[in-house]
Amino acid sequence: MPNIIITKNAERLAQKCAEFFRHTAKESVAQNGRISVALSGGSTPRPVHRLLARPPYLSDVPWAQTHIYWADERLVPEKDPASNFGSAKKDLLDHLPIPTDHIHPMCSLRSPAQAADDYTRVLTDYFEANPPEMPIFDIIFLGIGQDGHTASIFPGDRTAVDTTRWVVAVKGGSPDVERLTLTLPVLKQARHLAFLVSGAGKAEMVRTILEQDSAALPPQWLNGSGGQVSWFLDRDAARLLTGYHAGKEA
Ligand code: 6PG
Repeated sequence: MPNIIITKNAERLAQKCAEFFRHTAKESVAQNGRISVALSGGSTPRPVHRLLARPPYLSDVPWAQTHIYWADERLVPEKDPASNFGSAKKDLLDHLPIPTDHIHPMCSLRSPAQAADDYTRVLTDYFEANPPEMPIFDIIFLGIGQDGHTASIFPGDRTAVDTTRWVVAVKGGSPDVERLTLTLPVLKQARHLAFLVSGAGKAEMVRTILEQDSAALPPQWLNGSGGQVSWFLDRDAARLLTGYHAGKEA
């Protein structure tokens, strides 16, 4: 069963996520000497990124042992407002005491297929494994769209689902551009999957994903993952959940 954390507002949601990351990073570094985290894009993670870029997280997180990847990326220039790396760079990466070779953006000016191969090689170098084996990220942060997508795995598109590849090129979403995404089999292997969802606009989709088993949406294919799946929700995003799923307010 996924772990459901519900906070009174978006600000508290960001705090809970930052605390979760700090705790998990310290635990991973204590156990393995490093932590691998994959970030998602969109607007929801940005308050968390900005929080992690300030005290106490600036000094409390083992950034020197942290390796940052992306769950998905729009294949646009870094300066484009749609760039997930560009947003994270501004909000978080430019402020961190982290070695630059620990930051692994997906964005690329090569063709989508070549960019997917390139990023796969970045991952095989770090994880010292090759497909069909799967990399095991310590944390993958995910959001959901109102259509039920996560990362850039869109309902009805099996490209990133029926595969042993680690990274694939897709097209879609908003903006409707070429993208790279980690595949579903990779997401399923993560030690921690952390969904971050905020706002009343997502409440219907949160209820569908968590309480309507027949819906067949990408996030539902992750709830049975080997690792710990956590849903960090603010009260607005959780407002349609019934009793047995509505966790205690954090
Ligand atoms: C992307 C994201 C995507 C995002 C959701 C939610 O690159 O588009 O990774 O999966 O998490 O679309 O986006 P918001 O947080 O902006 O609602």
